[in-house]
Amino acid sequence: MSDKHATLTIEGKSYALPIIEGSEGDMAVDIRSLLKESGYITLDSGYMNTGSCSSDITFLDGNKGILNYRGYAIDELAEQCSFIEVAYLLFLGELPNRTQLNDFRELISRYALIHEDMIHFFDHFPPKASPMSILSTMVNSLGSYYPEMSADSSDEAVLSVAARLLSKIRTIAAFSYKKSEGHPLVSPRYDLSYCGNFLNMMFDKPVTPYVVHPEVVATVNKLLILHADHEQNCSTSTVRLVGSAGVNLYTSISAGISALWGPLHGGANQAVIEMLEGIHRDNNDFEKYIKKAKDPNDNFRLSGFGHRVYKTFDPRATIIKRACEQTLKVLNVDDPLLEIAMQLEEIARSDDYFISRNLYPNVDFYSGIIYRAMGIPTNMFTVMFAMGRLPGWISHWQEMMMDTKDRKIGRPRQIYTGPVKRDFVPLHERG
Ligand code: ACO
Repeated sequence: MSDKHATLTIEGKSYALPIIEGSEGDMAVDIRSLLKESGYITLDSGYMNTGSCSSDITFLDGNKGILNYRGYAIDELAEQCSFIEVAYLLFLGELPNRTQLNDFRELISRYALIHEDMIHFFDHFPPKASPMSILSTMVNSLGSYYPEMSADSSDEAVLSVAARLLSKIRTIAAFSYKKSEGHPLVSPRYDLSYCGNFLNMMFDKPVTPYVVHPEVVATVNKLLILHADHEQNCSTSTVRLVGSAGVNLYTSISAGISALWGPLHGGANQAVIEMLEGIHRDNNDFEKYIKKAKDPNDNFRLSGFGHRVYKTFDPRATIIKRACEQTLKVLNVDDPLLEIAMQLEEIARSDDYFISRNLYPNVDFYSGIIYRAMGIPTNMFTVMFAMGRLPGWISHWQEMMMDTKDRKIGRPRQIYTGPVKRDFVPLHERG
């Protein structure tokens, strides 16, 4: 904590509020004592200006377009690491050496199966059930099968819990797709990488064995890394809030998956493709969609555009756009939606409405086009996001649970605006 203070004066009385400074220079006014001292709360709908915690995990500067995990720049991690390596970094704060990485991989492979009883759960979802609802339900159910949550904060205990969830979420995600297709489930394999295994479980069929394409594996790896954490976003804050009540990790993560599903959050990757398909069907009538997005009386927004924190380029979007062009070329896919997306971006970025509001493409704008090219169906896009975000959710849950100093149940305040105290009217006297 710095020794600087801010002074707030309310009705002539002054309150000295400590200033907190982050390691990268971010500043906060600590208002924790304000209610007790003044009787006033602070009001901040949507938490536009509210820090809910201090965290050592991810640094994000929305004005400069910087994103670092544990101090490492996102572009270096995305270029040079495996997803599992980055997950390890997020969990323990340091990059693993070769032995540590191999041990962690081994652990993930060991936990890949889900309990046979859980496989029957898939049979009871309607065929059109969203894989996001299946994922959230199944992850919550894991708590009933693996209730032994350790209170141990040793590296081994953290990695063991994390490996189990990382491994099983991948199996659940692929099984939910296979079930929706009515195809037999494909078991995880010991010899494949995390991403290669996922793709194999998704696409291998008894009649047409899947050939794991290294370029596709590399792209999925990159996408998962780019999604792995993003500090206190809606789903991560949900994980922390639900976890703050003391529920287990699986239930907290299940709540995070539900939050991610929303089209204003991770569900935007699916919404982008649906929007681009709409523009395509409308013979590329960009003007119509731009007009709708700018109309204050129309709920329509350009999906994949804008961000609460980034007021410049989202560094993830820049990397994903490049990966999108490369992957389509490698797979020899000519998707008209890529051209439409690029034109839409160009039009929006030269339009005063988007310029004045600092609206740029976000992480979801180009990712869906890559997934489409790989044959991943649209309703699985947000599941891919959830697999990627899992290390971040787990790390934040762990960080919160291990915080003996500041850990508190999450419980915001409100300003009451309903009727003032009035006399009760018994039922027989009400007209
Ligand atoms: N299209 C059109 N207008 C937009 C868009 C958009 N995508 N995003 C923001 N705006 C406008 C708003 O209408 C508002 O205009 P106004 O000042 O005239 O009222 C202004 O920009 C500010 O927008 P807010 O909604 O106040 O910004 P907020 O930070 O609350 O919302 C959000 C951020 C939810 C991401 C928003 O930009 C949005 O809805 N984008 C589309 C959905 C999307 O892509 N979500 C994924 C985000 S990334 C992620 O979660 C993984």
